[in-house]
Amino acid sequence: MQTLKEAIEAAHDSRIAIGHFNVSDSNQFNAVVAAAGSLNLPVIIGVSEGERTFFGVHNIAVLVAAARADGKQVYLNADHTYSIDGIKEAVDAGFDAVIFDGSHLSFEDNIKQTREVVEYARTKGKGTLVEAEVGRIGTSSKLLDVPPEDMDKDLTTAEEASQFVRETSVDMLAPAVGTMHGRLKGGGEPKIDIARIEVLREAAGVPLVLHGGSGSSDADIIAAAKAGCSIIHINTDIRVAYRKGIEAALAANADEIAPYKFLAEGTKAVQDMTTKYLRLFAGIQE
Ligand code: G3H
Ligand code: ZN
Repeated sequence: MQTLKEAIEAAHDSRIAIGHFNVSDSNQFNAVVAAAGSLNLPVIIGVSEGERTFFGVHNIAVLVAAARADGKQVYLNADHTYSIDGIKEAVDAGFDAVIFDGSHLSFEDNIKQTREVVEYARTKGKGTLVEAEVGRIGTSSKLLDVPPEDMDKDLTTAEEASQFVRETSVDMLAPAVGTMHGRLKGGGEPKIDIARIEVLREAAGVPLVLHGGSGSSDADIIAAAKAGCSIIHINTDIRVAYRKGIEAALAANADEIAPYKFLAEGTKAVQDMTTKYLRLFAGIQE
């Protein structure tokens, strides 16, 4: 199997993006892996600190190993990790990538702590890729009443991207380019700054990762992949699909108590949602 680094390079050369989908349990994991497998595409499973506490780091690692043994091109990422200890746990557990999220820190402290993370990952010698975040993308994958404060005022600049990568040697950079974590309850699409992505890709010199993919227009997502975002993250829409599928199953049979029945509907909804996004990221026409 290609390494994640090789898969990202291949995606970048083809100007497409690899899908990164967050999961909280094995049903969602199986759904995402099945969607990618049926399209013969690589996929990244993302688990935030909260998701992996619930799921269990060991449990996820075992599932990924089993999927790979079954011929699936699946990678594992420790999504938004705020503590160095959390990063160390993921590196030691064999994750393919980790994201150190120091976007709430000052630019200087973000650089300092990210450098520490990069040094740890490189010293361990497992080939773990390190991603870091510069700028404001919001924090939670949830349904929002209003956009996070100052969303569009703190977009990443070319100078920041270039200095940050130069001083930390990160493998990938997550910039703020107009998207946000979560989705507005009342609808409304964030506008992705495509021109900025092109400039940042050049300035950073490493692959860019687009966070906050849920809620953006299809056209913006395709353009972001073409402009240099080699990985695109989706979480909120996966969560919404799972819950709606389960709700529909329970609405159809309010007395149902067999989890394998009502959870199956949620799982199918996650697979359908993942398939939709994977086709979009890979430029596969309907
Ligand atoms: O890291 C996770 C993603 O950036 C999720 O963003 O919830 O808006 O899809 P989203
Ligand atoms: Zn994110």
